[in-house]
Amino acid sequence: MSNIVVVGTQWGDEGKGKIIDLLSEYADLIVRFQGGNNAGHTMVVGGETIISHLLPCGILHPGKLCIIGNGVVIDPQILLEEIGEVKRRGYFSDENSLKISKLAHLIMPYHKRIDLGREKIMGASKIGTTGRGIGPAYEDKVNRTGVRLLDLFNPDMFRKKLELNLQEKNFYLEGRLKEKGFTFDEIYDKFINYGKQIKPYTTDISSIIDEEIKKGKNILFEGAQGTHLDIDHGTYPYVTSSNTLAGNVCCGAGMGPTKIDAVIGITKAYTTRVGEGPFPTELTDEVGKKLQEKGAEFGATTGRPRRCGWFDAVLLRHAIRVNGLSGIVLTKLDVLENLGSIKICRAYRFRGKEYLHLPPDLENMDHCEPVYEEMEGWKDNIGNIRKLSDLSGNAQKYINEIEKLTGTEVTMISVGAGREEVVKLRNPFELNA
Ligand code: GDP
Ligand code: IMO
Ligand code: MG
Repeated sequence: MSNIVVVGTQWGDEGKGKIIDLLSEYADLIVRFQGGNNAGHTMVVGGETIISHLLPCGILHPGKLCIIGNGVVIDPQILLEEIGEVKRRGYFSDENSLKISKLAHLIMPYHKRIDLGREKIMGASKIGTTGRGIGPAYEDKVNRTGVRLLDLFNPDMFRKKLELNLQEKNFYLEGRLKEKGFTFDEIYDKFINYGKQIKPYTTDISSIIDEEIKKGKNILFEGAQGTHLDIDHGTYPYVTSSNTLAGNVCCGAGMGPTKIDAVIGITKAYTTRVGEGPFPTELTDEVGKKLQEKGAEFGATTGRPRRCGWFDAVLLRHAIRVNGLSGIVLTKLDVLENLGSIKICRAYRFRGKEYLHLPPDLENMDHCEPVYEEMEGWKDNIGNIRKLSDLSGNAQKYINEIEKLTGTEVTMISVGAGREEVVKLRNPFELNA
């Protein structure tokens, strides 16, 4: 038995969905523990593309238990739409294979409007959020005024909470953001109805996880976003509003840290970022455009173009430290084909000095200049390769260099979007074996 946490090591969209989908084969439970439908996790199976925002990426595998933990913020409408969509596409035929924590907080309509309204008035200093209401929903959670799933099952409780919240939210929406407020009736019945539909899936997920661990089952924890979007350890304030790090599995799913066996970091062979914020290796030239086109770097949630740049070992070292990574899964290596030469950022230069790690006295990365190593690229099409030894010498050198610069083993290499397009080196469920 093994309990494996999978997290993104950059700024999200590293290919977590693809890897979690393929690792689900070895897992009995797949658990989301933070974030909400700001996530867009893409799976390509049999030529068909499925994007999951809230449902764990194990959902395409019959016989697996998928869990949404208390740490996730749930937009009930999106959840129900997603359930409908996967069923329509022939997946998720067993209603008992999805369990949702009753304690999960809800994204309410006012959260979305506040998120969008704030971004509008912030102008140039906006965060570039996904506009899904994530920040305002987590704010209410921490403020102890949030609405949880279980509140929907108690109409009187929900009525009181909604009335109180609306007084404050309408005041803020109308007075500060100059947006329309909400009437009680616009929300109440709709949400009571959502509650009725979602209730059969809800339960105490911490106990289920505990029971399954005692039975010796394999659990895969599915991180959303990426390390550098973490509210504490990311590029604040250009981050999301949850802890995206592996350690948050414990709070977001109700499990102790002693139960985690390994942490796998999903790492793109280059770097991307959506939204605002510093990005030292960003390429605003033709090469950046090439990466964007070849990598189809457009947001799976909002469709926004992703900013693209070279691989950044400084970011990775940070991710390895704060997550305690056991290994790296390198994705989208195929996107680097035919580039001529490839650069890797091995350090940052700041005020004339080189840093292997983020300078601690630095407020953000804006003033860091990347220090690059240049490597020869490769021309071969690597999408069909399944064995490391079949990769061209230069592609192997690139992987070795990443391992050397980060001091961490690459355990799998993804060479295409499809589930089968992968070079498996070491099964993470056997990493500690
Ligand atoms: P996630 O948020 O980390 O799950 O990543 P996204 O799904 O938002 O973005 C990753 C994108 O890259 C998706 O379009 C995937 O289908 C695609 N993808 C994943 N792995 C590979 C790969 O190895 N090669 C290529 N070309 N595309 C990949
Ligand atoms: P997955 O799980 C990439 C980014 C947004 C914005 C910042 C804050 O698919 O990797 P938010 O709506 O969370 O308040 O936005 O975080 N962001 C993501 N970027 N992938 C994601 O998820 C993201 N989720 C949020 O673009 O910069
Ligand atoms: Mg994504």
